[in-house]
Amino acid sequence: PRRIFSGIQPTGVPHLGNYLGALRSWLELQQADAAASAPEHAAAGAAASGPAGSTHVFFSIVGLHALTVPQAGKQLRRERRAMLRCLLAIGIDPARCTLFHQEQVPEHAELAWILNCLTSVGKLNRMTTWKGKLATLRGTDAAAGEPEMEQMNLGLYAYPVLQAADILLYRATHVPVGEDQLQHLELARDIAHGFNRQYKTSLFPAPAHIITPTKRVLSLRDPAQKMSKSAPDASSRLLLTDSPAEVRYKLKRAVTDSERELVYDPAERPGVSNLLLMLSSLRGTTPEHEVAALNAAGGGAGRLKEATTEAVVEALQPIQAALRRLDDDPGYVDEVERSGRERARAEARRTMAAVRQLVGFG
Ligand code: TYM
Repeated sequence: PRRIFSGIQPTGVPHLGNYLGALRSWLELQQADAAASAPEHAAAGAAASGPAGSTHVFFSIVGLHALTVPQAGKQLRRERRAMLRCLLAIGIDPARCTLFHQEQVPEHAELAWILNCLTSVGKLNRMTTWKGKLATLRGTDAAAGEPEMEQMNLGLYAYPVLQAADILLYRATHVPVGEDQLQHLELARDIAHGFNRQYKTSLFPAPAHIITPTKRVLSLRDPAQKMSKSAPDASSRLLLTDSPAEVRYKLKRAVTDSERELVYDPAERPGVSNLLLMLSSLRGTTPEHEVAALNAAGGGAGRLKEATTEAVVEALQPIQAALRRLDDDPGYVDEVERSGRERARAEARRTMAAVRQLVGFG
């Protein structure tokens, strides 16, 4: 049976890249799996087979990963909670998946330690994510050269091992993520394989990634970069909480080009193509379809921005309405946290019992 795991860091409101690149596929997986497994679900009963029938779906807000860059406690507490509300508002349904805070399940850190001991420093050196983060922290350009490692905290370096632990703890077979996470997934497969070989077991399946066409949504200000939570220019990203006026303002300023005709060509026309990708993804069409329609109507980049503004505002409206309802219902959010923690811990304990036995701690 399929077991799905994915995570998101509680470092600010999700942006449209998170939403289109990952969160919307979380939603689809949660629906598809509930539908596909409905008959078994009814027969086996929810308690025996988990909330999504024979397929288990786990979504985690990864607080431990957030600590790899400086965080104020008070703010992190707020953001963890805000992220949970956002996930519920977009439609993540705790009746169909296990939605939980990573740091409330101590087994993540325990497994990460064991996996640290199976992972070479050379492998971590080849990961590019810490290089980018380190450069952002220092306000330098990642492309400017290898950043100085001496001052880097060990957590940032070992970040991908903790991510592998997240995935393996639930023995996940599939992991929906954006393109920036692919190398972490590859490492997770590597580590799973290494553990199985070392301990002569088949405990951990090799986790496959699930990638969508919007795997890499670009910055509105600099289409050479991905849209990111940490870019200094706030108008480079659209947040799920942006008002219609903010959406309009940011998209008006979005970098495109001066060609008159629109063409979908991500390599040569990244700015225009990024907007076409966002627009078509929100409308459930294709970039080619949208570009043909816009060109037929004689619209250039200006019309594209208007259409994208409309589509984004329309998509955000129900999410923001749901967020307001959740603000009025803290008791419900508490209950989601509590039940998510219990269900995740039960799974995590089961895997760790097997791991402890294998490594000689049983
Ligand atoms: P995070 O919090 O940076 O991002 C959450 C998800 O959003 C995707 N994403 C994007 N997709 C398309 N375009 C973009 N511009 C864009 N920016 C972000 C990310 O690929 C991700 O899927 N390390 C992870 C969190 C994590 C995790 C895990 C993920 C921890 N443990 C285990 C999967 C499995 C991260 O920092 O995601």
